[in-house]
Amino acid sequence: MQLLDGKIVSAAIKEAIRQEAEILRLQGKKTPHLAAILVGNDGASETYVAAKVKDCAEVGFDSTLLRFDAAISQKNLLDQIALLNDNPAIDGILVQLPLPRHIEEEAVINSIAPEKDVDGFHPVSLGRMVNNLPTFIPATPYGIMLMLEHYQVPTRGKHAVVIGRSHIVGTPMSILLSRNTPYGNCTVTLCHSHTHNLKELCLQADIIVAALGKAEFVTADMVKSGAVVIDVGITRVADDSKKSGFRLVGDVKFDEVAPRCSFITPVPGGVGPMTRAALLKNTFHAAIARLEAGR
Ligand SMILES: NC(=O)c1ccc[n+]([C@@H]2O[C@H](COP(=O)([O-])OP(=O)(O)OC[C@H]3O[C@@H](n4cnc5c(N)ncnc54)[C@H](OP(=O)(O)O)[C@@H]3O)[C@@H](O)[C@H]2O)c1
Repeated sequence: MQLLDGKIVSAAIKEAIRQEAEILRLQGKKTPHLAAILVGNDGASETYVAAKVKDCAEVGFDSTLLRFDAAISQKNLLDQIALLNDNPAIDGILVQLPLPRHIEEEAVINSIAPEKDVDGFHPVSLGRMVNNLPTFIPATPYGIMLMLEHYQVPTRGKHAVVIGRSHIVGTPMSILLSRNTPYGNCTVTLCHSHTHNLKELCLQADIIVAALGKAEFVTADMVKSGAVVIDVGITRVADDSKKSGFRLVGDVKFDEVAPRCSFITPVPGGVGPMTRAALLKNTFHAAIARLEAGR
């Protein structure tokens, strides 16, 4: 069993981005600049946004964190995004999800200028991805593809079972794995909460991507010997022995599943750091594309 170590791979990706960003800066061209919007004070969202801002600093990007009270109106939020869209200094915009219930996520995502949509959630980005055109790929599936590439995990002709069909993880993941690309060409089964025979499907899978958000859902009796298991899930489970009062648990029962696998990602330290690295890659690409377009 080989561990797919997101910490090691993301560190290598970040170092490559740092070097490229430094060259760009020394050439006097630009410093990539990410704007992150955080609405409210959800604990997990705070942690994610703080990590993204820290990542920017580590690779030499500028970042701006805009924080708004949970009571902000949708109109005000859309006005703030419009300002960022028009601000030539900003290359990438992300809005940390979830948003408070009175704000329509779709309206917010659709208001981001597609050329600054570094989360890749805008319909234009998703449409371009489906058509295999250059675009921003949602950071989590993008990070997973980078991980498969780094470890040269064979995917061609394999049966991949993706559990979960969200717009941000499962659905784009199923598309990326099925495309005619070096780390695609899988035959993909996309599962969700209405799937009847999930265990049987998983037992047929050469690759399982677990992205359903249910702690330790995938157990050893669901995994074929030699399978590749990618664990996207992050659930906070109360743990008094931790200073924070919780620990992070994936969607896979790691200890019993790992011995059956050819490759497996840990939680934490697997997909999470890769997601962050992929966001930096998208931001760098946004900066380059805007530079080339003279913006
Ligand atoms: N590591 C990272 O960087 C990263 C990034 C993003 C998300 N995550 C984590 O990944 C997990 C999934 O996130 P998400 O945003 O995609 O979640 P989500 O929007 O809640 O979607 C969950 C998906 O799982 C499906 N599902 C739920 N219970 C199921 C069951 N018993 N059997 C089969 N399918 C089931 C749902 O089916 P229906 O569509 O039928 O409801 C849905 O499609 C969460 O734990 C999240 O925290 C991690």
